[in-house]
This record gives sequence, C-alpha cells and structure tokens, in this order.
Amino acid sequence: MNRSPLARRTEGFTESVIREMTRLCATHGGINLAQGFPNFPAPALLKDAAKRAIDADINQYAITWGSQSLRNGLATTYADLYGMRVDPETMLTVTCGSTEAMVSTLLAIIDPGDEVVVLEPFYENYGPDAAICGAKPVFVPLRAPDYTFDPDELRAAFTTKTKAIIVNTPNNPSGRVFTRAELELIAALCREHDVIAVTDEIYEHIRYAGEHIPLATLEGMADRTVTISGASKTFSVTGWRVGWIVAAPQLTNGIRKVHDFVTVGAPAPLQEAVAAGLTLGRAYYRELSAHYQVRRDTLFRSLDQAGFKPRLPEGAYYIFCDISGFGAGNDVTFARRLIAEVGVAAVPGSSFFSRPERGKDLIRFTFCKTDELLREAGERLARAREILG
Ligand SMILES: Cc1ncc(COP(=O)(O)O)c(C=O)c1O
Repeated sequence: MNRSPLARRTEGFTESVIREMTRLCATHGGINLAQGFPNFPAPALLKDAAKRAIDADINQYAITWGSQSLRNGLATTYADLYGMRVDPETMLTVTCGSTEAMVSTLLAIIDPGDEVVVLEPFYENYGPDAAICGAKPVFVPLRAPDYTFDPDELRAAFTTKTKAIIVNTPNNPSGRVFTRAELELIAALCREHDVIAVTDEIYEHIRYAGEHIPLATLEGMADRTVTISGASKTFSVTGWRVGWIVAAPQLTNGIRKVHDFVTVGAPAPLQEAVAAGLTLGRAYYRELSAHYQVRRDTLFRSLDQAGFKPRLPEGAYYIFCDISGFGAGNDVTFARRLIAEVGVAAVPGSSFFSRPERGKDLIRFTFCKTDELLREAGERLARAREILG
C-alpha cells in the first residue's frame, strides 16, 4: 500500500513499556516486579463459583450491561460501604475490566478537541485512552515527595474546553490515597466548570493509611461522577476481565451504548463468580489490605536498604523509587540493566509521564507477589548498588 494502512490515532501509541519489561524479564529469568498481576491464587470461593456457573451453562451472552446478580451485588456493596444510592437497573454497567470501562466512558462523553485533566504521573493507559477519543489531555503535576497537586495549578488547568478530569485513588504509580480536602477541591472545580469526574478506584480495597472516599459521595458530585472499579485487584483475578461503571442514568445510558458496540458484554460465568465474591464483604477487604501491608513492608525495607529511596505508599500495590543516587543512567537504561544484571524487573518512571524526562529518575516496583518471591527479589536488589553503581 502507498498510503499508511493505519489511522493517525495509532501513531502516538508505543508498545506498553510494562509489557516490554515483562518480556525482557522472561528472557533473563528475572523476578517480575514490573507488571501488577498477583502470582498467588484467587480466593477459592470465586474459583468454585466460576466453575459452578460454567457447569450450570451460564455460557451465553450476559445482559449487555451486566448480569442481574452482579449489578444487584454491586448496588448493595456501594450502599453498604459508601452510602451510595446506585440503581442497578439504570446506573451500573459491567465491562471487560476497568480498562474497557475507562475507554468506553471517555468515548461516551468526549468530543474531539475536548480537554481532559490528568494528574501526572498517571496510569499509562490514560494517554492512549485520550488519544482514541480525540481528547486533549491537560497534565497537572503531582509533585514528589508527597505527590499532591498545587491547588493553583489544578485551578489553572480547568478551562471552558474542559470536559472531564481523571482521578485515580488509591493512585498508581505513586501510592497516594487522596485526602478529603484534595477531593473537595477537585469536586468544587468540577461543579464550578460543569466538568465530569471520571474516577479510577480499582485499588479501593488495597489501603494502608487514609480513607477511601469515592468522589461521587461528595456534595453535588453523584450526577457528575463516573465511578470505575473492578474485580482484577480486589479478588486477584486480573485475567478475568470484569470491571464496572457507576454513573447517573443519563451518563450510563450513553456509556452502555458504547460498551454494547465495543464488547457486547463481559464474560458471563465470571460475572456470577464476582457476584459471589462480593458477599465476602468487609472482613475480606481488611484481610486483603493486611496481607498487602506485610508485602509492602518487606519490599520497602529491601529497597530502602539497597539505596532506592522508596516512597512508602498509602494504597495500591506499587512502590515508586528515586534512582538518581545510583548514577546508572536514566530510568529506561536503569530498568534494562536491573533486569539483565540484577535479575529484577521494574517499570521505568517515564511510562507514567507525558514527557519522558519527567520520569527519568524514577522507577516503579510492584509487591503483588508472594512473600517468598519478594524476599528473593530483596536479596538480588541488595547487590544492585555494587553491580550498577
Ligand atoms: C490504575 C489502574 N487502572 C486500571 C487498571 C486495569 O485494570 P483492569 O484489569 O480492571 O482492566 C490498572 C492495572 O494495573 C491500574 O493500575
């Protein structure tokens, strides 16, 4: 073909660096602390429920916006945990992971040229998500060491063209859990400028400090917030691809149409299994956080002793580190050498920034791994300075 077979919107897409690190890691027999997938089993209750659902022949398309049982379970869960009033008939859409939830939401609410405020560093999918729907991302820095935003910088990012802001708390990669005061400021700006908040709350149940406050629960925000979450992290089932969206009926109506045409629906038997998982409730969530806290502390200690200057996260399962003290090249060079020479994979900081130079001194490790693997990684990392420094 003389002309490019590909649409221009794909031009800025690069291969996910996280997946590149995972591949490199496999080549070198390294320990993969790059990609955020657990290497331990999912709860038996969910696995048994999935098997039962398949045996019961729940194997055809579910209702496109989600099985009745999962939507009912989610409505009850949001009411119990956060006091949110969610009508399962008009306010819930079950999607193929929160990844699909984010892109279906943006496709439903964004017109080409609309501006979307993104707090930076950000989960790497938000860039391509914005590009797919023609949005212009406007980045507002979360500054180290606290990874909070400057209220004036945030205020300045809201213009007449702003249609939405993406808010991810607990945050990947920084580990921040946003405070009520921070969320109140975001909410006030959304109200003032008639902007929709799209929240990514996928780590809502993985927390070591602070409180998880859905933005939708703040005054005047229920109708202008799209709340996204999912089963991947809460139930350690990242491969099941079950996520969901809570939004006011008018928003849900548009989002469901996009979701229907893009995917038809999420895996039917796995929706039943996630509905069963929701019955585990608060005790399960507490235990999940407690287990992750032990893993966090193990990896944090290793990184600290090895000179990585880690930031202690309040939530999610990542530790963001400052590698400038090593003098071993920028984040990408450092990450490649860390795999090849030390045998541990991490994600270069630039993956989380709009401009690579902003992340050149940073690297992210995940601790969603068994204690044993984290200890082994710690032993390898202890030699990092000697090998790389
Ligand atoms: C902030 C954030 N959002 C979304 C996702 C993807 O979640 P899902 O498996 O539900 O698509 C991830 C996965 O790492 C994430 O870190």
